Amino acid sequence: MAISKPTIAIVGAGLMGHGIAQVFALAGHDVRVFDAHQPALDSLRTRIRANLDQLGIPGEAEARVKGSSDLGETLDGAAIVIEAAPEKLELKRAIFSELVRLASSNALLASNTSVIPIGDIAQGLATRERILGTHWWNPPFLVPLVEVVGTPDTASEAISKMISLLDSVGKTPVHVKKDVPGFVGNRLQHALWREAIAIVAEGIADARTVDTVVKASFGRRLAVLGPIENADLVGTDLTLDIHNVVLKHLNRSPDPSPYLTDLVASGRFGMKSGEGFRSWAPGEAAALRASVFSYLKNLDLSPNHSGGEHGQTETTSLKAT
Ligand SMILES: NC(=O)c1ccc[n+]([C@@H]2O[C@H](COP(=O)([O-])OP(=O)(O)OC[C@H]3O[C@@H](n4cnc5c(N)ncnc54)[C@H](O)[C@@H]3O)[C@@H](O)[C@H]2O)c1
Repeated sequence: MAISKPTIAIVGAGLMGHGIAQVFALAGHDVRVFDAHQPALDSLRTRIRANLDQLGIPGEAEARVKGSSDLGETLDGAAIVIEAAPEKLELKRAIFSELVRLASSNALLASNTSVIPIGDIAQGLATRERILGTHWWNPPFLVPLVEVVGTPDTASEAISKMISLLDSVGKTPVHVKKDVPGFVGNRLQHALWREAIAIVAEGIADARTVDTVVKASFGRRLAVLGPIENADLVGTDLTLDIHNVVLKHLNRSPDPSPYLTDLVASGRFGMKSGEGFRSWAPGEAAALRASVFSYLKNLDLSPNHSGGEHGQTETTSLKAT
């Protein structure tokens, strides 16, 4: 007898919500999606179909996704709820108080927040044992990782159930053991961005050069060689020698760079305004997005792609710093 797959509810049909819905629908789950804005619901299936077409995936997985402007209807019968609304603490807290009230009493309630501690979202709510974080990466149907984050109140069964579910739909879930701002991925990513911005601000290199340095050097290896593996590869002794020289010179500001705040204050928002750290000619932004999609798609289709911690490469003769 076939085991029925749990119904998934998604709150927020934006960039992340529609992509997360796609992952579950493609794996055979019924998916309900709530959004506060009708246009996001109207375009939901079309956006999913367009992604699937780009990936060359036939069929009608998008038909398993049903949008609704009624939160109660969306949550009815859902065993798993994933919130992917805007990154505002007060909004997420308001949504979660509704989820606790309206969702089935044993449904898992997860937030896709990028950096907000899950405990801040769950604060003061009843049944905090079923509230957790599932931090997906964009695009959710091409980037394997999902960080699963529990608070001290989250039941260990909730974590293991979520990890099994994510495994079953082909993701690479990891358990983040402490509910810290930024979890693991965004702490690492924004440590790099802070230094990259400092290098530009200090005139050490311009914006294009900083990106070329990353893309043409250690960025090439990152998908198969993590920083800790890399430190072990070159040796902890060499890593220590390097840190003794360089760490004291890296940016340690706890606040955003004044260079960044000036860009925002002057309306230089990046690709969407035509200028950010650098200017973007018409067509350049779309070309870059297409190139990222195609790169990730090819990685995903590659037989060597593990998406997980078991992807080993032949590194015995490689010295990589
Ligand atoms: N964009 C990324 O790369 C990325 C990656 C990982 C995590 N996240 C996180 O995922 C979440 C969603 O990000 P996004 O990029 O999909 O944003 P988005 O702006 O594309 O989508 C948010 C959606 O939420 C809807 N919404 C607004 N208020 C709502 C409400 N009260 N109830 C329900 N829906 C509401 C909006 O209409 C919109 O469709 C954020 O917490 C973000 O930090 C984003």
